[in-house]
Amino acid sequence: MNLSRLALSLGQSATLKLNEVANNLKAEGKPVVHLGGGEPEEKIPAGAFEESKKMLDAGFVRYTPVSGTAPLKKEIAAYTEKFYGVKPGPKNICVASGAKQAIYNFLVSVVDPGDEVIFPAPYWVSYPEMVKLAYGNPVIVRPQAGKLLVTTEEIESHFTSRTKAIMLNSPGNPGGQVYSEAFIRELVEICEHRNIFLLMDDIYNRLVFDGLKAPSAFNYSKRPLNESVIVSINGVSKTFSMTGYRIGWSVANEALTQAMIKVQAQVSSCPSALSQAAAAGALREGDAFVEQLKASLQHKRDVMVAELSKLKKVKLAKPQGTFYSFPDFSAYEKDSAKLSAMLLEKGMVVTVPGVEFGLEGHLRLSYCGAEKDIVEGVSRIRKILD
Ligand SMILES: Cc1ncc(COP(=O)(O)O)c(C=O)c1O
Repeated sequence: MNLSRLALSLGQSATLKLNEVANNLKAEGKPVVHLGGGEPEEKIPAGAFEESKKMLDAGFVRYTPVSGTAPLKKEIAAYTEKFYGVKPGPKNICVASGAKQAIYNFLVSVVDPGDEVIFPAPYWVSYPEMVKLAYGNPVIVRPQAGKLLVTTEEIESHFTSRTKAIMLNSPGNPGGQVYSEAFIRELVEICEHRNIFLLMDDIYNRLVFDGLKAPSAFNYSKRPLNESVIVSINGVSKTFSMTGYRIGWSVANEALTQAMIKVQAQVSSCPSALSQAAAAGALREGDAFVEQLKASLQHKRDVMVAELSKLKKVKLAKPQGTFYSFPDFSAYEKDSAKLSAMLLEKGMVVTVPGVEFGLEGHLRLSYCGAEKDIVEGVSRIRKILD
């Protein structure tokens, strides 16, 4: 009885594994500080609660259409028009069980065995493994030393005849950096010119600070949506603090969307009806929740930056969005897995090694948790390292 080569080739999700480690240590009563998390601590929006409750009160929680309910698609269309500059019809939207499944639907729909999917480092831990799940080859573009962003020239230099898609996450997990308007405009031009899909992972796209806006790729497209190479991935996990509901979606041209729906139909059918109702409630409730979350995260970003600046040899590019920072600890220890393990053992602080995101020497420290944990966690790290 052998496992498949595909299963054997896949790595475990480092971040999900660390969540487990942190929870186990907490359950054992250890004084652990979790700076490895990936979800806001805020309660869900009231609208999400009310819509879930309404459905539970009615007592009917049934299958929905595979690509999502009409009320949720209506909210997604309005949200996309308002924040992304394009109005999708119902046939351009596929609601999935999380943004992660939407990305999977996309990859399985466009990648043939051996096709290449390009993305810059540092990248979200799941990208390489997800490309492999679709029998594709991940192609990683690394930034120049000391930088967290790549240039369009650096991306173009990785193109081959097998290049099928580019994936971009801006602001990005783990660096929190935002790609500029000029960069996005050029990338859209390149992808349209060469007919290469551009997957924009917009999951943190509204969580940007200091009045900055993360540009929407659709603003620079010369094509109507149904001829577009752009695929926008979004969801309620981060922006509406609803990670446990598992609702994400894709906005793309109709032909691609229909292929993605076929994939999803055979893998998981529709996302949970209860979660879809809640997501519609959250989107309807709109901006007030997101603005509050953003203000709280910006404050915690400032606390994290101030605490990290007390370490003598840490280099940090100030995060412009998300709830992650990605400081360079290489002056202390170049091997990030070793450093992360040592900080857990000696300080009971959970961090995520940079190597998991494709960039050695860094650690990812989250600031989505309680402010006191940020202060305590970084101060423990300082005591150990300085
Ligand atoms: C960059 C990025 N994309 C997608 C996701 C997945 O989001 P979801 O919870 O909607 O599956 C995450 C979650 O951590 C993420 O960091």
